[in-house]
Amino acid sequence: MTPSCTAALEVCALVLKTRGLGEVIFPSFTHVSTVLPFVQHGFKPVFVDIQPESRCIDTSLVAEALSTETRGVVAVNYGGWSPDYELLRQLCDANDLLLIEDNAHGMGALRAEKPLGSFGDMAACSFERQKNISCQEGGALIVNNPKLQSAVQELTDLGTNKSAFLAGEAVHYQWVGSGAKLPFTEWQAAVLLPQLESLDAITSARKSAWNHYHRAFENHAVEGPANLEGSNGHVYYLKLKDQTERDAFIAYMAGQGIETPFHYYPQHLSTAGQAYGRFVGSDQYTSEAGTQLVRLPLFQGITTELQDEVIAAVNQFFNS
Ligand SMILES: Cc1ncc(COP(=O)(O)O)c(C=O)c1O
Repeated sequence: MTPSCTAALEVCALVLKTRGLGEVIFPSFTHVSTVLPFVQHGFKPVFVDIQPESRCIDTSLVAEALSTETRGVVAVNYGGWSPDYELLRQLCDANDLLLIEDNAHGMGALRAEKPLGSFGDMAACSFERQKNISCQEGGALIVNNPKLQSAVQELTDLGTNKSAFLAGEAVHYQWVGSGAKLPFTEWQAAVLLPQLESLDAITSARKSAWNHYHRAFENHAVEGPANLEGSNGHVYYLKLKDQTERDAFIAYMAGQGIETPFHYYPQHLSTAGQAYGRFVGSDQYTSEAGTQLVRLPLFQGITTELQDEVIAAVNQFFNS
């Protein structure tokens, strides 16, 4: 367990660093936390575009972004959807790269009946307050590649040989290298555990709420997300015509007492993203997602009555 998904991604950056510094490939449409830990540990971000349906990294563009300096790929399971992990795995294996999943949104979601979080060599999860299950702040690092277990153990044991020492394999319990302190308290665990145990029921309630929005918007003037297999209903968004319409929509909904936040500003256009990284290929869908998407309220316990109020307000906006 970790204090956040950001902290789990920091461990991924430290593990990657043990293979040497270089470049890491990211989708540009993501949270700063996906990229920041890698840049802080000396990696150069290389951004590529997303795929228009899943809004996840467009795997077909990753090959073009590869260089002799590439060390890894970080894929984001945006909204509980997933990129083409089969192709990503082939690319990473063929080029000796680590595949890391930013699974902040993906708890309870599936791809071909396998849980998201099980595709990368490592996967970082979030239990922050807006996630499907939450303990206000919290995260986890899933280590799927057994070859990374001991490096992760050492790094998460504050850079000590604690586990080797406890196994009787080291004479002294001592500091041996880089590491991090990753507090996750029993208070947080006590809040999270019952939700983890009820993950299927929570995911199914979330998907029902997602489907309720989708029935209202699938044949509407405004475009909603594609109804892709396996999602955990983490995000329901609408795609407005342009930024002007999006801003007018957010203001209108706020006037009705409904918060409809936009999502990520493209990282390759951000001040730091431009200073530290580069974008490969063309930006067909990233800026569009950054300027046109808005998220509708969706949380554990949302009622259909509340959703109907949101739907009515959206309809009023488009009819006015
Ligand atoms: C894609 C993505 N990655 C990482 C994070 C950071 O998660 P945390 O707040 O648990 O560090 C977020 C936050 O929402 C996110 O959207």
